[in-house]
Amino acid sequence: MYVCLCNGITDRQIRDSVHRGADSLPAIQCQLPVATCCGACAEVAREIIENERSSSHQCCRAAA
Ligand code: FES
Repeated sequence: MYVCLCNGITDRQIRDSVHRGADSLPAIQCQLPVATCCGACAEVAREIIENERSSSHQCCRAAA
C-alpha cells in the first residue's frame, strides 16, 4: 500500500529499507524520500519501521 502519497512510496519499500539496516525515520530518509514533503505520512512510516524491527527480532529469538 502507498504510505507516502507525495513521493509514491509504499510500505514494502520502507520494510526493505529496514532490512537493509535503516532503523529510524531519518535513516530511512537517507534511502527514500518518505515524509519529506507534507509530512502527513511520518507517523505511519514510523509505525511500519517499528513493526518491521520488532518482527525481525522475533525471528532472531525463534532461532536462538
Ligand atoms: S504523504 Fe509523505 S510527505 Fe506527503
